[in-house]
Amino acid sequence: MSQASATFGIAPAVMGFVLVHATLRRDASELVQAAASESLTRRVALVDRVLGVHHRGEEDLLLPELVERQPGFVPTSVMIEEQHAQLDAAVDRLKRYARHGTTDERTAQADEVRRLLEEHLWTEEQRLLPVWQASFTAAELEEFGARLRWSTPLRDMSVIVPWLLEAAPPSFQQLAADHVSPPVRAVYRLWWRRRFQREYGFAAA
Ligand SMILES: [Fe+2]
Ligand SMILES: [Fe+2]
Repeated sequence: MSQASATFGIAPAVMGFVLVHATLRRDASELVQAAASESLTRRVALVDRVLGVHHRGEEDLLLPELVERQPGFVPTSVMIEEQHAQLDAAVDRLKRYARHGTTDERTAQADEVRRLLEEHLWTEEQRLLPVWQASFTAAELEEFGARLRWSTPLRDMSVIVPWLLEAAPPSFQQLAADHVSPPVRAVYRLWWRRRFQREYGFAAA
């Protein structure tokens, strides 16, 4: 367990979930600010990419595990998957508008993505997070975190790690740095950082 997670007594898997949500919130508000600018195309591509990875981790691992432990969680699990589908559709629409839409269409759609994302993150934090923490022991949370890491393909890690390290809100930057192990940070510095910045133009945005 990293120092920060140990300090706060929060399992790394839960800390990762909280970090991703905080960083998505920042991205969503920046999407709205970038709606009229050239950088919208790259910003929405990044949101699409990281949301896809986060949704997959929840749908393939976390939700089935919670449903198995808490059958009463089924309606919430269904609601979360529906929200994922709605968000994906809204992000796809924004990608199209980023290429061909008017400024009004881009601004309205970026705001719609922000609204749907906020509603979704709120749902998970209010209805999923407490059930997750109540259903797993500390050892099970450790084991789940390891399973999540091993099941994340390297090509997804190569985006998620730079995104967390560079896009986490200022008050989460230290937690993001502590969340990424030293060997993974070394890989980020040597290979992933440059490609991430080239692809998503993050440093220049
Ligand atoms: Fe989600
Ligand atoms: Fe989530």
